[in-house]
Amino acid sequence: MSHWLLPCTLVLLSFSTLVRAQAFIPPAIPLAVRSPYLNCWASTAGANLPSTNNTAFFWYNVDFTDWLGRIRVDGTTYQWLGDSKTNQNVTIARLVSTTITPTQTIQIIEAGPMNMTVTFLSPVEPSDWVKQSLSFSYLAVGAESTDGKAHSVQVYSEITAQWASSDAIPTVATNISFRDPGSYYYAMSRGENVTYKTCTDTVCQSNFTRFGTLAFVENNVTFRAIGDDMPVFAMSIDLGDIVSTQSSPVVWAVGYNHNPVIQYTVSNGEYQLRSPLFMATYPTVADAIVDFLSDFSDAQSRAVALDNRVQQAASQVTTDPGYYTMLSIATRQAFGSLSMTIDSNSIGSDWSISDVMIFMKNMGFDGGVNPVDKIYASFPNFLFFNASLGGPLLLPLLQIQFNNVSRPNYAATELGG
Ligand SMILES: *[C@@H]1O[C@H](CO)[C@@H](O)[C@H](O)[C@H]1NC(C)=O
Ligand SMILES: *[C@@H]1O[C@H](CO)[C@@H](O)[C@H](O)[C@H]1NC(C)=O
Ligand SMILES: *[C@@H]1O[C@H](CO)[C@@H](O)[C@H](O)[C@H]1NC(C)=O
Ligand SMILES: *[C@@H]1O[C@H](CO)[C@@H](O)[C@H](O)[C@H]1NC(C)=O
Ligand SMILES: *[C@@H]1O[C@H](CO)[C@@H](O)[C@H](O)[C@H]1NC(C)=O
Ligand SMILES: *[C@@H]1O[C@H](CO)[C@@H](O)[C@H](O)[C@H]1NC(C)=O
Ligand SMILES: *[C@@H]1O[C@H](CO)[C@@H](O)[C@H](O)[C@H]1NC(C)=O
Ligand SMILES: *[C@@H]1O[C@H](CO)[C@@H](O)[C@H](O)[C@H]1NC(C)=O
Ligand SMILES: *[C@@H]1O[C@H](CO)[C@@H](O)[C@H](O)[C@H]1NC(C)=O
Repeated sequence: MSHWLLPCTLVLLSFSTLVRAQAFIPPAIPLAVRSPYLNCWASTAGANLPSTNNTAFFWYNVDFTDWLGRIRVDGTTYQWLGDSKTNQNVTIARLVSTTITPTQTIQIIEAGPMNMTVTFLSPVEPSDWVKQSLSFSYLAVGAESTDGKAHSVQVYSEITAQWASSDAIPTVATNISFRDPGSYYYAMSRGENVTYKTCTDTVCQSNFTRFGTLAFVENNVTFRAIGDDMPVFAMSIDLGDIVSTQSSPVVWAVGYNHNPVIQYTVSNGEYQLRSPLFMATYPTVADAIVDFLSDFSDAQSRAVALDNRVQQAASQVTTDPGYYTMLSIATRQAFGSLSMTIDSNSIGSDWSISDVMIFMKNMGFDGGVNPVDKIYASFPNFLFFNASLGGPLLLPLLQIQFNNVSRPNYAATELGG
């Protein structure tokens, strides 16, 4: 079951972007890649070029996680993200460019007279482990008029209930898919003119196309299967007549949380439940999301600095820009495979960084936890950013083998599934 919420804070954010030439387009474009279960990509495989009409999917199992974005300019609706069945009266906006950095995927998109900058920011926070443990990503949308005139602009986005389960009929499923135990969140700061509803996709989308608001939609919380009249959580904001959103982009946070993250076997017969590290410092997930949203501007500055650092290091190895793109994908994958955890019993009491254990999940193949070959492959990444990450990542492997009296006389390849 998923829970959605909208924190009640108003924040104004400054916006800057970094646009560079893209050396090559990988088979999947990272959108929100932050932790093993927040792994949303857009496929560019086969005939799917990067576009504003592409299906987003969860990496493991390649399940759909539809994520839709639209903008209404002077009454005309354009789609800038996703793929939807109800595209009646909707124009697919033109994707001008896609740039992938270690922390960001930035798309320049033309929607009629507006030039949009759509930024998917998945922070990589090697020096602040509490921030690294926040399984949330940003979606920031900026728009600027290309004819210098003011235009009436409304922006819309929704996620489907598919985010919460890989199963189209969870209400009748007898076995629960592995994504089910957690909760997905989609949130934005509640400024003026924000409307939000839980509704059937077609109802919210056509209301937005027609009226530019969700004010006339009734909340529909009828409990039903995900594939039955596709339930979505939608938000819309009316920006009024604008020339540009320069000083205040529209920012969403999308995220996932499950607690406990893992049942860790300390030794034969002794288990420990471990929670996301941020839960040791935030009283509730909602508090963490409010903080995360208000941190967008600073998070983006840190992200740009980290991106620049990787690009500079890459340029010292080769002048081929493809190397930087490859490192960008590798960095995102390496950090997106981690869960930073703390003993669930430590929540609410004093804790120290030495209590942290890091679990890596292999989302690409078998779901194995702390697979030695994947740790080995990504270790240069951790050494480059913060070698201290190595200890808590190796600790569970070493501890379990040390404690197990009936262990075989060769090293374990992983902790298990
Ligand atoms: C957008 O994608 C949907 C689903 O893949 C497809 O049915 C529709 O024709 C596409 N629209 C355009 C304009 O390409
Ligand atoms: C659109 O915005 C991008 C990024 O700010 C900029 O490079 C480009 O020149 C703009 N295009 C137009 C037509 O204004
Ligand atoms: C590495 O992480 C530790 C623990 O959070 C922190 O104290 C240290 O400053 C970090 N080092 C770097 C180089 O970021
Ligand atoms: C679990 O559910 C999936 C479909 O949701 C089905 O394909 C699979 O056979 C089920 N497994 C068991 C053991 O029931
Ligand atoms: C599309 O526009 C026409 C003409 O304004 C309108 O009659 C129709 O209801 C619209 N369809 C949707 C799905 O909004
Ligand atoms: C807007 O939503 C309401 C229900 O919540 C529905 O009755 C109405 O038909 C919708 N309007 C459009 C244009 O889709
Ligand atoms: C809510 O959705 C359910 C399932 O699609 C539908 O049967 C019901 O009529 C809807 N209720 C309202 C008030 O729109
Ligand atoms: C709210 O919407 C109205 C109507 O479109 C508009 O005039 C006003 O500028 C908007 N307010 C803000 C803060 O965007
Ligand atoms: C200890 O090692 C044995 C032999 O590999 C294995 O069967 C058992 O599951 C391990 N125990 C734990 C608690 O991991």
